[in-house]
Amino acid sequence: MDEKIILKYTDIPEQKNIDTYIKNGGYKALQRALSEYKPDEIIHLVDKSGLRGRGGAGFPTGKKWSFIPQNIPLPKYLVCNTDEGEPGTFKDREIIEGDPHLVIEGIAISSYAIGAHKAYIYIRGEFAKGAEILTRAINQAKEKGFIGENILGLGFDFDIDVYRGAGAYICGEETALLDSIEGKRAMPRLKPPHPVAKGLYSSPTVINNVETLANVPRIIENSAEWFAGIGTPHSTGTKIFCISGDVNNPGVYEVPMGTPLKELLEMAGGIKDGKKLKAFFPGGPSTPILTSAHLNVGMDFESLKKIGSMLGSGAIIVLDEDRSIIKTVARLTEFYRNESCGKCSPCREGTDWLLKVYQRIIDNKGKKEDIDLLLNICEDIYGTTFCPLGDAATMPVISSIKYFRKEYEEYINGKCSNINN
Ligand SMILES: Cc1cc2nc3c(=O)[nH]c(=O)nc-3n(C[C@H](O)[C@H](O)[C@H](O)COP(=O)(O)O)c2cc1C
Ligand code: SF4
Repeated sequence: MDEKIILKYTDIPEQKNIDTYIKNGGYKALQRALSEYKPDEIIHLVDKSGLRGRGGAGFPTGKKWSFIPQNIPLPKYLVCNTDEGEPGTFKDREIIEGDPHLVIEGIAISSYAIGAHKAYIYIRGEFAKGAEILTRAINQAKEKGFIGENILGLGFDFDIDVYRGAGAYICGEETALLDSIEGKRAMPRLKPPHPVAKGLYSSPTVINNVETLANVPRIIENSAEWFAGIGTPHSTGTKIFCISGDVNNPGVYEVPMGTPLKELLEMAGGIKDGKKLKAFFPGGPSTPILTSAHLNVGMDFESLKKIGSMLGSGAIIVLDEDRSIIKTVARLTEFYRNESCGKCSPCREGTDWLLKVYQRIIDNKGKKEDIDLLLNICEDIYGTTFCPLGDAATMPVISSIKYFRKEYEEYINGKCSNINN
């Protein structure tokens, strides 16, 4: 079996054009969905496939769709989250630039399933090329009758708009993203109500990641059972991993869920300059760091949870044996401090305190109590904030102290030499 589901055609430059997309089997799933299935049957199919969200939290996609209330006289919306702000994550850009029609087809089928006649692709401002490619693809799809009124003569009216963000990590958080589309400053909303109940313009809204939606046409084409047979029992299908950092061939790699990290590192050409692996973030810095002792762990939702980490966005950031854990985590803490929207105190103040303590340690003014102070600040942030950004900021700190406390102690005692990396 060709294990690529999403990146199957992204290396073909003409795949962006609708004629090539159709030649390669494109838009058949949409035709099939509209002609053979009722909306709730699609939801059931996607639920049976085991598809879980690829945006970070891994929420079951069919279940999320089933929460959309169908008995209220309000429009429903679908939003494709293309903000891709998690450091080290660059898979969604690859999909939209390489196979935009796959995403559009996924959005059309998913909108039909939840009863939405309008969808938005929220794309980060920096992705100018991606926005242009998507806009062109949407226009082509309109010309061919895959978007518009009475699609393919099958009675479904549907439209998509591309909405460009203005570049902030918080815009990827689903409720902040909705505020951004509504023209407000992007700040997370308190949940509940969840967007499925009260989302865009106070109407029921599904927000899904690009990779999640790109899987939908494949499930319709090949069956729920086929998709469920790939990967592991509770993490079905493939996952696109973005491997960056100290590897020879950084890039995107699509493999079945559950593939061990060791195999992925081999695919990425191994660690640079023949060095050894020191640590890695399995799913971006918002997921707890792991070490060379975890090389054989399966990269899927359950296996990573079992060892205290998470799959996150699938951004594997690799650190070689010479990297300074303190410098790395300080840099990430600065990122969270800068990207905190400032709405709640534990995140706004806490990330700044964390950074100040790191700065003191790096400037050789650290005290041995600072390690526990970092953990105490994390305790005050974790679970007390409006949105998961606050929790995320504590992940690199807590996990790096768990595995590399000795390095912290040695640096504070003036015995660690690799702080400059
Ligand atoms: C600070 C923050 C940033 C996020 N950024 C993104 C993002 O760039 N893309 C994304 O798909 N999800 C992002 N998420 C997760 C979304 O809130 C949401 O869970 C996701 O889009 C749901 O899609 P899924 O069910 O397909 O995973 C972010 C969450 C937080 C807290
Ligand atoms: S946790 Fe941080 S980013 Fe999230 S709402 Fe609070 S201040 Fe804003």
